[in-house]
Amino acid sequence: MLTSAKSLLEMAEDGGYAIGAFNVYNLEGALAVVAAAESQGCPAILQIHSASLEFGGDPLIALCLAAAESASAPMAVHLDHSTDHSEIDRVLAGGVNSIMADGSSLDYEANVTFTREIAELAHSQGGMVEAELGRLSGTEDTTVVAEYDAKMTDPEQAAEFVERTGVDSLAVCIGNVHGRYRGWPTLDFGRLEAIRDVVFVPLVLHGASGLPENMIERSIELGVRKFNVNTEVRSAYMESLSGELEGFNQPELLELMDSAVNAMKEVVAEKLRLFGFSGTE
Ligand code: 13P
Repeated sequence: MLTSAKSLLEMAEDGGYAIGAFNVYNLEGALAVVAAAESQGCPAILQIHSASLEFGGDPLIALCLAAAESASAPMAVHLDHSTDHSEIDRVLAGGVNSIMADGSSLDYEANVTFTREIAELAHSQGGMVEAELGRLSGTEDTTVVAEYDAKMTDPEQAAEFVERTGVDSLAVCIGNVHGRYRGWPTLDFGRLEAIRDVVFVPLVLHGASGLPENMIERSIELGVRKFNVNTEVRSAYMESLSGELEGFNQPELLELMDSAVNAMKEVVAEKLRLFGFSGTE
């Protein structure tokens, strides 16, 4: 069933777990996330990144909303990493009411102004806004942020930022990266704890692909209520396609699609299990 992301985050806060938010590009992605959430009996979020929105347009929005509606598990649809007013207007008009206003490439005051404007807009339509403070390095679709441009979230500034912008959730930068980790991930849990002590909205951790179980558990203990996952799901899709195409028998298109859904579903289901929903909430 289609549910608001805000109510999913509230449920996660009450239950002490985190919601998995998975970037989807097409029907197979949406079906995989729905099937995984249903198999675990737990909530999940379908995320549309602005690069995939540019490709899929309104049909992609409608597809994600319909997939969420059809699910037996509570599901929300969210716009990931948007820097653009018109894109945000477009998804709000299309019925998506959870937005990530990403002003992290702007200087601090410009980020405050941009994020506050989007928060006011989304709130006026019953929606919610996630923002990012600090800056994540790594690669996601068409966005590349070099390591030297990355910036950790400052706890005091984060508290002030949330207060001034009125955002509903905050994505933090504590050593997490988009894409593949080079070597073993190093998360600054002291920083996360300091943020948790002064920021009173749910915290979000992007770049959850490749994080080991113990780091996921610790992040949840310290207030992370949403993990964003893209790379591992996307890789499962690509590997499934290339594996099928390299096989001796030429598969049918529907067989290719079915294999891709199953490959992504497995990854998503495993992440949902790690994110701590116990099924008793
Ligand atoms: P990964 O691609 O590293 O899983 O990150 C996804 C993400 O943070 C989407 O916003």
